[in-house]
Amino acid sequence: MAGLFDLPGAPEKITDGLVIIREGIHDPDAVLREVHRIAQQSPWRTMITPGGKTMSVEMTNAGAVGWISDRRGYRYEGVDPVTGEPWPTMHNDIVNLVRTSATAAGYPGFEPDVCLVNRYRIGAKMSLHQDRDEADFSHPIVSFSLGMSATFLFGGLRRTDPTLKLPLHHGDIVVWGGSSRLHYHGIASVNGPAHSMVGPYRINLTFRRAHS
Ligand code: SIN
Ligand code: FE2
Repeated sequence: MAGLFDLPGAPEKITDGLVIIREGIHDPDAVLREVHRIAQQSPWRTMITPGGKTMSVEMTNAGAVGWISDRRGYRYEGVDPVTGEPWPTMHNDIVNLVRTSATAAGYPGFEPDVCLVNRYRIGAKMSLHQDRDEADFSHPIVSFSLGMSATFLFGGLRRTDPTLKLPLHHGDIVVWGGSSRLHYHGIASVNGPAHSMVGPYRINLTFRRAHS
């Protein structure tokens, strides 16, 4: 519930290790232009889970490595399997905002080496999962949301633990780490309405450190 102190840009501690910075992205258009540039170089694609299901979220990556899923499993790779080329680079202004956000949330010194970019259309979702393909769980995850609103589900260490249901809107930043770094999380099926500027899309960028 919105309160007197939920000022844009003020870090709000939600639970142990999890912080939301409402409207922390002060220039959403610049981030969207970057997403457009990334997707021109490494196009949106749907990935297959190791179990053979097609994910409803379209993905691409920027950074030294990128997260991929296929029949062989989940992993980070330095070459985009679609283009056969390295992934696009991460823009330094955005990495600076990631560093600032991590520090404000209590995780100074975070240096991401990958940005996984997710694109949700109406009806797309991300089932509860742990982010555990990274080498060192002392590094947090920093997440940017743009476009349509969605409900972020944030649970515990077991898939069956109860989940917080946190609305995320255009411009919001979420940071989680520490004792909540391996907590199950996901995105409930996106309902719309379309965003006034971004249209019928939710764009999410998660900045991670894959290699220690
Ligand atoms: C993720 O868990 O990797 C994505 C979360 C989101 O789309 O907000
Ligand atoms: Fe995740």
